[in-house]
Amino acid sequence: MPILDFKKFRKKLFLRYLARIPISIRLAAGHGLLMATLLPLVGVGIYKLVSRDLLKSVDIALLASAESMRASKAYEGLVNGGLDEFLSAFLGGRDVNAYARIVDLSGNIRSRSTRDDVTLPITKEAMARAEQGFSTFETWDRAEKPPFRQLTMPVIVGGIFTGSIVQVGAPLDATWATLRQIRGVLYLTFPAIFGVSMIAGYIMARRSLAPVDGMRRAADQLSATDLSHRIDVPNVRDELHDLAETFNRMLSRLEDAFERQRRFSSDVSHELRTPLTAIRGEAELALRRQRSAEDYRAALETIQKESVAMGVTVEDLLLLARAETGGLPTTKAPVFTGDFLANAAAKAEQLGKAKQIQVRVIEIEAPQNFLAAENYLSLALGNLLSNAIKHSPERGIVTLSCKKSKNGLLTFSVADQGEGIPPVLLEKIFDPFFRVDSARNRIAGGVGIGLSLARALAKLHGGDVHAESTQGRGSHFHLTIHQALAT
Ligand SMILES: Nc1ncnc2c1ncn2[C@@H]1O[C@H](COP(=O)(O)OP(=O)(O)OP(=O)(O)O)[C@@H](O)[C@H]1O
Ligand SMILES: [Mg+2]
Repeated sequence: MPILDFKKFRKKLFLRYLARIPISIRLAAGHGLLMATLLPLVGVGIYKLVSRDLLKSVDIALLASAESMRASKAYEGLVNGGLDEFLSAFLGGRDVNAYARIVDLSGNIRSRSTRDDVTLPITKEAMARAEQGFSTFETWDRAEKPPFRQLTMPVIVGGIFTGSIVQVGAPLDATWATLRQIRGVLYLTFPAIFGVSMIAGYIMARRSLAPVDGMRRAADQLSATDLSHRIDVPNVRDELHDLAETFNRMLSRLEDAFERQRRFSSDVSHELRTPLTAIRGEAELALRRQRSAEDYRAALETIQKESVAMGVTVEDLLLLARAETGGLPTTKAPVFTGDFLANAAAKAEQLGKAKQIQVRVIEIEAPQNFLAAENYLSLALGNLLSNAIKHSPERGIVTLSCKKSKNGLLTFSVADQGEGIPPVLLEKIFDPFFRVDSARNRIAGGVGIGLSLARALAKLHGGDVHAESTQGRGSHFHLTIHQALAT
């Protein structure tokens, strides 16, 4: 329950306050916050590491000098001054300012170096450890001065503690100074790095987000009637570059779709106006004066023929619109390949009877049956076949083949020996109302919807329609559907 409340609270906080702050400032602040957490951590780490290393090198020097004092039997009566030589030999003389002394168990100083401004006690712990044969390092803090580091080492001869203890110590001058410098540098640089990173973060965020503003303005200028504006694509290949490109591609697609829509509407009205004019003309002519029954009959027949053709066009258009917008109910059922092809071929042969066209059927590795919405598929294939018949020469041969192709597709191909299609128009013929030779095709009864409809219906089956053609020798149309075997 409390966790939930916290989440709610965070969301509320974000919506009420944070979401109102510009992204660039939010980014910069986040960046700054991160720096403010990381920098002290890094600083403390560096400081600890350096101080440990510095102390280690002092300890090594102290240990070396104590050990050599012990080894050279300095504890056996080196008088004042004798120890100084030792120290300068091992610790580098004046620079280090070390001291050394030899004490016994009761704390009496038996010998000491000349430096006398330090009087450090022997702690109980160090003494106890010395009696057990262990050396002890200790640090003594002093007010306003560098601390002292001291080593207490028992003198052991032949494994037996002699009662003498060597003590070597040195002020941590250099270490202290170095650490103070590091502290100073860190104190100075932290706020500077923090400030610079905030400002740099802000500037960078502003600069990288600048294209967003451009996109907003470009989007503002768009309207349904003018989709020609494009967003400036930033030179840097980053996410915003990709976004701008994607946005522009979307605009192109939209512009295309709007343009097609506009052309489609004007084509539809144009196509429907022609038969309407014919019908009206025919009716007006017939009504102009009294006519014989045959004349009326002829006029009515023309009117009927035109209106039937118009009806077919309107039906096709409706079907096309529904297929393209996904408004067609497609219940797929098993279709027998052999029967399907034979039916299609028979209808085509019927169409081509006048031109004595022969329709051949070929099956290549075709399955016995497949799943499809049979009426729509046969309509699509029928359109391809009727085109082939229309464009075939007298006594020509139209081939209908069905082939299983690799990527799970079933291909129906229709080949004719007609005049062919110019290569540049191979895609255009799929546009609604497009006809290579409008005048001729119109006489042949085509309005130019057949191929667009065939393609839309093939897409309904997860496939498509493509055309290949050799001018003067004939065309091949391939209708693919996604192959779904019934069994
Ligand atoms: N087999 C073919 N050979 C040559 N040209 C063809 C062939 N099939 C189609 N075309 C060309 O493509 C155009 C578009 O064909 P589509 O089937 O869409 O329209 P249509 O046949 O003219 O009319 P509709 O099919 O609507 O009755 C045709 O007008 C024709 O110019
Ligand atoms: Mg056609």
